[in-house]
Amino acid sequence: MKNRKKLKLAAGIDGTGWNFTSWRHPHMPADAGENIDFYIQQAQLAESAKFETLFLFDVSHVGPGNIPHYLSMFEGATIMSAIAMKTHRMGLSFTASSSYTDPYNVARQVLSLDKISKGRASLNIVTSNPGGMVNFSRGHLGKADQYPMHKEFLEILLGLWDTYEDDAFMRDKHSGIFLKPGKMHPINYRGDYFSVDGPLNISRSVQGRPVVYTAGGSPTFVDIAATYTDGAFIAGSTIDEALYTANALRAKLVEKGRSPEDYVVALSHNPIVGRTIAEAEKKYLELASLAPYHRIPVPQFFGTAEKIADEITTWHEAGAMDMLVVRQDHPHGLRDFIELVVPILQERGVFHTEYESDTLRGNLELPRPAFRKI
Ligand SMILES: Cc1cc2nc3c(=O)[nH]c(=O)nc-3n(C[C@H](O)[C@H](O)[C@H](O)COP(=O)(O)O)c2cc1C
Repeated sequence: MKNRKKLKLAAGIDGTGWNFTSWRHPHMPADAGENIDFYIQQAQLAESAKFETLFLFDVSHVGPGNIPHYLSMFEGATIMSAIAMKTHRMGLSFTASSSYTDPYNVARQVLSLDKISKGRASLNIVTSNPGGMVNFSRGHLGKADQYPMHKEFLEILLGLWDTYEDDAFMRDKHSGIFLKPGKMHPINYRGDYFSVDGPLNISRSVQGRPVVYTAGGSPTFVDIAATYTDGAFIAGSTIDEALYTANALRAKLVEKGRSPEDYVVALSHNPIVGRTIAEAEKKYLELASLAPYHRIPVPQFFGTAEKIADEITTWHEAGAMDMLVVRQDHPHGLRDFIELVVPILQERGVFHTEYESDTLRGNLELPRPAFRKI
């Protein structure tokens, strides 16, 4: 099957990197995870290459044995709001946990970011990995609770974002009508885990609703993702592994009467690219030599720009991914990918050369959702 959507690119900005070593690299700011200038620089670099979105994964628990990045990182909504002021077209996404937050707070944060960025916000709402310490009063939750919570959380989130019809706020100084009350539809949700009365206190998004993703791999995840979200982050260290979950998601979307073309299957990888294979190997060895006691896996996308562009094209066309999240452990990883790989993908027509829309939804080729009917 040939993927009919163009490839989407996201820049995953992970501070010093998702490992024990990268902070020691001479060109990496050791405080990158808390360094606003570094984040702005990386965001603007990604936007200059027309990446559809910026992306932040998050950790739900802090605890013993954490990598440096886990102990020194910005909170997602806050950093994305700051980046919104320094970018203009690129989407902005952060991760929150349905197990350790409340849907009303998250609905406000994401919709506020959507307004601040003029229609560029998205949320990755996850159930969260276990582990670490009990940082939240709810303690550690098991999957038996997490997925039913996740479902309720998503229903509330989508309901709150549709509190007001698009033309609810008149704000007409002459007549004195601020809001048309008939166009306000508060939710009144009673679940086993969350009970929420609406209205939300912010008007509907210019993109209808912020884009929402979730992440996982189990059949329950597939069912929830296909029911409620616009996209999903899946694992896939091989093309077959990614295809297995991607195809399960697409089959479930069809079963639920949705079009797989109106959905974004996303994978994250950490490419190491060089002008020559020797240059790629040198970069890998630079990272590996920084912490001899922690093995760094050789990334899936590794080698020359042509080889990596070929592999990305193959994965995309096969349907293993609609969006690639480019993560970077090497301080020049994103820059090199942009300088070397992106032009090849653009030349081949696999990746776009200009933003098509003012909103993230438009750039991801996702339809603007209709207002909920209930
Ligand atoms: C690609 C991918 C990305 C994930 N990102 C996060 C994350 O940023 N933060 C987090 O707490 N959990 C993250 N998770 C964990 C999921 O939230 C979930 O707890 C985990 O995948 C187990 O659920 P499952 O059995 O349905 O796969 C991620 C999982 C996958 C597969």
